[in-house]
Amino acid sequence: MISSSQVTQFQDQGFLIIPDFLNASEIEILRKRIQQIICEFDMEAVSIFSTTEQTKTADTYFIDSGDKIRCFFEEDAFDNQGKLVRPKEQAINKVGHALHDLDEEFSKISYKQDLAEVAKDIGMSDPLMVQSQYIFKQPRIGGKVVAHQDSTFIYTDPPSCMGFWMAMEDATVENGCLMAIPGSHRDPLGRRRFVRNIDGQTTRFVGTEATEWDLNNMVPLEAKSGSLVLLHGSCVHMSLENRSPKSRHAFIIHMVENEARWPQDNWLQRPPDKPFKKLYESVLL
Ligand code: FE2
Repeated sequence: MISSSQVTQFQDQGFLIIPDFLNASEIEILRKRIQQIICEFDMEAVSIFSTTEQTKTADTYFIDSGDKIRCFFEEDAFDNQGKLVRPKEQAINKVGHALHDLDEEFSKISYKQDLAEVAKDIGMSDPLMVQSQYIFKQPRIGGKVVAHQDSTFIYTDPPSCMGFWMAMEDATVENGCLMAIPGSHRDPLGRRRFVRNIDGQTTRFVGTEATEWDLNNMVPLEAKSGSLVLLHGSCVHMSLENRSPKSRHAFIIHMVENEARWPQDNWLQRPPDKPFKKLYESVLL
């Protein structure tokens, strides 16, 4: 699926942009489907947006989302009464974290042969599909995502996280494309981790970053609609605010190696009857 020089480039840089990975009709199907999911999402059914114990319930809503399809909204999308200040399709930040397993259309893309081939090409031996997210990066309000390494959120021992970032529309400097520090995946992984507390209801960060990252070394990863951006779990990356009039939709899958240990305090946990699926055994033909 990808050439040996692309593999070398990925190993060298920690990221790789593969144009035309998805075709226009695949993108249209996913974009329509996500709009339908938002449209069907019943704000009233989820009390977290209007309760007084908002932080606690919002934590639970997040922490239980590993095997569900849940909608997460921009922080400033609500007024003091918990009412949306704009239409929900313009207030949503992301949908996660099991679109790949629970939605038919997203499954077709997540478990397609081409994706498995790319995972094989970059040396994944037995990838597990741990999470998926559809990110909206709304026009003018899409927030900044500060520099981080995905492996500190999706931690395994040893670290094995790989990100598969698919552009659902053109991602440019103007609308807040990914930015990454070339070669940063070879530095030691920061010791800071995002973990679930023993109560099983809340999360926190533990440890500190190993190094100060020089953000001047960030390069923009502009990607045309349909591109697949591979991102090594230790690659330091971020994205700036979207101040442009155009949204920047992306569908992102994270995988880890089956043989690596998945700690019990990772924020994302699956119940025993809903384990992570193995990509190579689950490819839809
Ligand atoms: Fe990330």
